Amino acid sequence: MSKQKRKLNNLQSKNRSKAYNKLKGYIIVILCACMVILLLKSKRRDVSLTAFTDGIHKMKESINLPAGKALRKLQAHAVSIFGYNNSISENINNGALCENGKFLLTNMTSCHPWLDCTEINTEIALGKYFGKDLTKKLQYGIWRGYNVAVQHPVMEKGKDRFGDFNENLRNYIDLQSRFVPQLVGFCNVSKSAMEFGRSYIVTEYYPRRSLGEYVRTIKYRSTTAIDRFQLAISYLEVLLFMHSQPQGPRILCDSNSLDDTLAQFLVTESNTVVLSDLDDIPLVQENKGKLARCKHQDLLSNREDIAKTYFLAPEQVKAMLKYLPNSRFSKIYGSKNTDNNDKDSGNLLDSEGRLPPYLDEKADVYKIPDVTQAILLLNIKESKLDPHKNICIEIWNSLKEIHSKCKEHTPLLRPNVKEILKAYADIIINKKDE
Ligand SMILES: *[C@@H]1O[C@H](CO)[C@@H](O)[C@H](O)[C@H]1NC(C)=O
Ligand SMILES: *[C@@H]1O[C@H](CO)[C@@H](O)[C@H](O)[C@H]1NC(C)=O
Ligand SMILES: *[C@@H]1O[C@H](CO)[C@@H](O)[C@H](O)[C@H]1NC(C)=O
Repeated sequence: MSKQKRKLNNLQSKNRSKAYNKLKGYIIVILCACMVILLLKSKRRDVSLTAFTDGIHKMKESINLPAGKALRKLQAHAVSIFGYNNSISENINNGALCENGKFLLTNMTSCHPWLDCTEINTEIALGKYFGKDLTKKLQYGIWRGYNVAVQHPVMEKGKDRFGDFNENLRNYIDLQSRFVPQLVGFCNVSKSAMEFGRSYIVTEYYPRRSLGEYVRTIKYRSTTAIDRFQLAISYLEVLLFMHSQPQGPRILCDSNSLDDTLAQFLVTESNTVVLSDLDDIPLVQENKGKLARCKHQDLLSNREDIAKTYFLAPEQVKAMLKYLPNSRFSKIYGSKNTDNNDKDSGNLLDSEGRLPPYLDEKADVYKIPDVTQAILLLNIKESKLDPHKNICIEIWNSLKEIHSKCKEHTPLLRPNVKEILKAYADIIINKKDE
């Protein structure tokens, strides 16, 4: 190559890089502009999570759901929900895979009796711990090549967790259905603290983990609005099952904040949820004049973090302020909510930290909008470029009317879960396929 040619080449490449730099500048400016527009747009569409109570308007325009196969699938599902009509508590299809006392895991060819202590101790290989809450630890296990989850009760000095363990186990046994995790076996030797450490509840393992974890995964962003709505419907079905037990409605006491509530549900491979935390789901026996009481309200009333989420139903807060007037809750909610005229104020906790009866299943109803909002929109908050965002927001908007009823201050005025399911299903069923 001659000198001149090389010079020319240099010059050309210099010019080229100049032009390139200019272009880069333009691209950056354009990108910035796009981002500002996106940001402004997302701000306008922003939906505040958990603080649901204000800003509820009348139902907006009809929604624009995808048509075709996906719509028909959801319509069929919605119609099956209508199968639960007035005679619900008698003939609810509980969908258990085996007769009570047996289990069937994916790829098993026939139902197997629940494992007993000996089988659990000798046939299950234990793996890593993957979860823990106030009353239990969770550990992976493998039984004959099948994944299982092993629950251990947590021993705490000075705290009686025997009651929680037994109640959890009792409920696992009694409520086996497609709405709770499948029981694989249990070992109940909880007579002494020594033996207590060898008590277990073994269930099916759900790789998608809790609802709270699942809705925050990257994978969740690729699920469609219909998938998410189905998950919300499934959550309502679990509530419906709990509220239509033959002895009376059972309420979910461990739903004290949005995160606690989402952590209580596990997501199955068929995109439904099951309620995994069954150690505090007391019965409401209105016919016997008995409302439900939740455990550990003394501990709860000092959880400032929970008070600040304003997630609890007003009647729960009111009772706490009345009976535990010196708690952190009182400081955050202020004393104006306290009903001081009542004669029986003062500490009336029982040995498990339960306040006097005051709850019915409408306390769960109050929390439905927040949970649905998290299922539909939580991920959107974190991912501005979610392609399903607009449909999710449209579904959310068309549920505003029913959700505003869930947030009625007076429990009696809130709809029941069946009415809410109907309202949810209606926005799908009444949709015409174009
Ligand atoms: C309600 O239940 C009855 C029988 O229990 C059934 O015949 C009817 O179709 C159900 N209604 C709906 C809307 O599914
Ligand atoms: C069930 O069997 C199929 C085929 O062998 C396998 O791909 C799948 O992972 C199995 N599922 C489970 C949960 O073991
Ligand atoms: C577990 O063992 C305790 C103590 O023996 C007993 O009171 C309880 O009923 C048992 N629970 C179940 C579900 O068998």
